Amino acid sequence: METVLSGIRSTGRLHLGNYFGALRNFVKMQHEAKCFFFIADYHSLTTHPDPKILHDNVRGVLSEYLAAGLDPDVATIYIQSDVPQVTELQLLLSMHAPVGELERTASFKDKIRKHPDNVNAGLLTYPVLMAADILGHRADKVPVGKDQEQHLEMTRVYARRFNSFYGVEYFNEPQAYNFGTELVKVPGLDGSGKMGKSEGNGLYLSDSDADIRKKVMRAVSDSGPTEPNQPMAEPIANLFTLLKLVSAPDVVSHFTDAYNACQIRYGDLKKQLAEDIIALIAPIRERIEAIKADSAYLHRVTSEGAEKARESSSKTLAEVREIMGIHKF
Ligand code: TRP
Repeated sequence: METVLSGIRSTGRLHLGNYFGALRNFVKMQHEAKCFFFIADYHSLTTHPDPKILHDNVRGVLSEYLAAGLDPDVATIYIQSDVPQVTELQLLLSMHAPVGELERTASFKDKIRKHPDNVNAGLLTYPVLMAADILGHRADKVPVGKDQEQHLEMTRVYARRFNSFYGVEYFNEPQAYNFGTELVKVPGLDGSGKMGKSEGNGLYLSDSDADIRKKVMRAVSDSGPTEPNQPMAEPIANLFTLLKLVSAPDVVSHFTDAYNACQIRYGDLKKQLAEDIIALIAPIRERIEAIKADSAYLHRVTSEGAEKARESSSKTLAEVREIMGIHKF
């Protein structure tokens, strides 16, 4: 059975883009492969070291994972900082991570440009920590977005370099995984591009019904079609993409026909869209709230997850130490 692993930084709430782009596929995947899903709280410290909010952010993202259907009895769900083997492996891997290479990483250069006042060593070695996450469980497949592909390529470089330096065939080369035909791009509400965290553009799994209605009703549209079967401008096409994700096929065809006949009223479309999004999000939000408040459950999930993750990565670590010549007396 293949091993799949993915991490998410604990820096905010999950939106519908995360849900359709990743989470929903993780939920399916957990029954098809050996899965590790974790909250990358160490990675979030490289840019957001705030002791007042760190724990709550982790609790939030974890509750959202669980509420969306990740099952701790099926997949291994854990918090990165609960697994010390990760940082030990990171140290060992860093011996084969030239600084020049790290300095050329796109995400590092981007952070330097945006935050010249906080260029810390954690940021520089971010890809090595990510490689340790992945190689620690000898993962085969890593579902990640485009922005993480270079980090994954570096993981492969580290794996290859380790094998060739020590003359072993130890690490395999983990591949990016993007769910192929199931991949959906979720547009935002501001008229262009994909759903993100910018103001008014994203719909969160934790949004109230009123939030959802307000945001959808304010979504960018246009003045309406003037000719039958006119091609849709991007903001309108985006609303239809969302509709296709959440609404029944006959609802989609009703509004498509209305658009093509120049009879569409965007207000009606948005009202329907908002209600259908609410039907999807409201039950998830209620589960998020219940889980978030259940400290005993979260304690059990994280302890059991950490236990399983430590078991898997300590096996790797012991073997890596042996290969590198760290022998027991
Ligand atoms: N760097 C990833 C991100 O920001 C999160 C992450 C950390 C991760 N370790 C990982 C993703 C290992 C996949 C595998 O999205």
